[in-house]
Amino acid sequence: MPRLREDAGRSTVNRVMKQLDAWVARHGNGKYERGDWVPMQDFMIPDDAGIQQDRDEIKEFVSLLLSRKRLGTALEVGLGYYGSTHFLWRLLFKRIITIEKSHERIRIFGTNMRAFHDRWALGDRRSAFIIGMSYEPATVAKTYQVACGGVDLLFIDGDHQYASVLTDWLLYSPLVKPGGLIAFHDVGLTVPGHYGVPEFLARLAAGAIDGRKRTLTTIRRTKHLGVACYEQ
Ligand SMILES: C[S@@+](CC[C@H](N)C(=O)[O-])C[C@H]1O[C@@H](n2cnc3c(N)ncnc32)[C@H](O)[C@@H]1O
Repeated sequence: MPRLREDAGRSTVNRVMKQLDAWVARHGNGKYERGDWVPMQDFMIPDDAGIQQDRDEIKEFVSLLLSRKRLGTALEVGLGYYGSTHFLWRLLFKRIITIEKSHERIRIFGTNMRAFHDRWALGDRRSAFIIGMSYEPATVAKTYQVACGGVDLLFIDGDHQYASVLTDWLLYSPLVKPGGLIAFHDVGLTVPGHYGVPEFLARLAAGAIDGRKRTLTTIRRTKHLGVACYEQ
């Protein structure tokens, strides 16, 4: 029986990944991010990967999510170039809320979704987009209005500076229901003054943020990417 359940779980993960692969193949350079680049400086632009995630890492995270009881609402900070994680959460959760500062990226995501599904898939009202900086009062108020019943996943993948991750965590982790997951992307990205996810997570695990130690699960197959999460 457990073996049967394991096989069923594996086939669901593969089904989800097949749909994600099809989406990624049609956007940007058509590839997953590899996470082994030299971190950029401000005057550079990166190659526009179809998703800003490593395939093995996100597959492992999908498998972890599918092992959980409740996949009601996901809240994400950061849509990215092609909204590919929002697309992924739609395959797993009933409702998805994304906070994104770029109206243009949200608009293009709608167009791309219509082209992919051959219909206005967003008409199902499962997706909500909150336009603005995650730390702006209007954004916070709107998010709390839309997510008022609480969320089962918070995925922080916006601006990866230490202060920004701290701010997003302070503002939105209270929305996560007991037993829900709080996850962070780019857990390997360290460039002093630019990216501070590793520093934030080290402090969080040590209880040096709010006096409570969190036990983190880390999925890391690349040098600079990786996902870490803990249960609320
Ligand atoms: C790394 S990308 C997200 C990648 C996406 N989750 C994926 O895997 O394909 C970060 C996104 O967050 C947005 N962003 C950065 N800081 C933000 C903030 N404080 N509030 C809202 N959006 C932000 C950027 O415009 C960008 O679209």
